[in-house]
Amino acid sequence: MTSRLALRPVDRADYSVIARINTDPELMRHIHTGVPHQHDECSVDLERGITAWHDDGFGPFVTELLDGTVVGTVGFGRPAWCPEAMPGPDVGWTVLQAHQRHGYATEAAAASIGWFFRAGLGSRLVGIHNTDNPASGAVMRRLGLRWLRQAVHPQCQYPIELWETTAPEWRAR
Ligand SMILES: CC(C)(COP(=O)(O)OP(=O)(O)OC[C@H]1O[C@@H](n2cnc3c(N)ncnc32)[C@H](O)[C@@H]1OP(=O)(O)O)[C@@H](O)C(=O)NCCC(=O)NCCS
Repeated sequence: MTSRLALRPVDRADYSVIARINTDPELMRHIHTGVPHQHDECSVDLERGITAWHDDGFGPFVTELLDGTVVGTVGFGRPAWCPEAMPGPDVGWTVLQAHQRHGYATEAAAASIGWFFRAGLGSRLVGIHNTDNPASGAVMRRLGLRWLRQAVHPQCQYPIELWETTAPEWRAR
């Protein structure tokens, strides 16, 4: 919970939230192949998020305004697709187009990273974004993550930026 947002782990009732995000061409433009997902893939995406919570104790949160309006998602995953980022975990964010440019991604990410470290779920987090996605890079910068290096997306071959923070760095910021 922040002054403007509530965060809750994604659950089976959230198919429509995942579908609104993952079928939107603009929101998916810089994610993996850049191709929006079909509805059957969204079911798989939702199941993956629920499984992450079950297996790892962390995963995606749904981000809502305090009146319950869905704003997007924020949370954690295991970036097995990116060897340079492993063992991770990584933190990521999406805000529905209508709610962008209000500071919600940064606010939700700061709350969730604080929660992750306070809960003792790990001592390091990475952030990864397509180099051609400066809006996500700006969130990394606003959060105070440390830029690590550029790499190449192993499947898609476009350049990506890797950022990092550790529990002591986060506490000291
Ligand atoms: C990446 C993404 C989440 C960034 O969303 P965003 O809304 O721009 O990011 P923030 O929540 O940090 O908002 C910052 C903006 O809100 C503005 N803002 C307005 N009111 C604000 C407030 N009360 N507090 C803080 N910032 C505020 C800031 O000035 C800033 O605007 P600027 O970029 O014009 O300077 C969004 O572009 C997105 O969902 N993209 C598609 C999915 C994606 O690519 N995810 C990342 C994968 S790596």
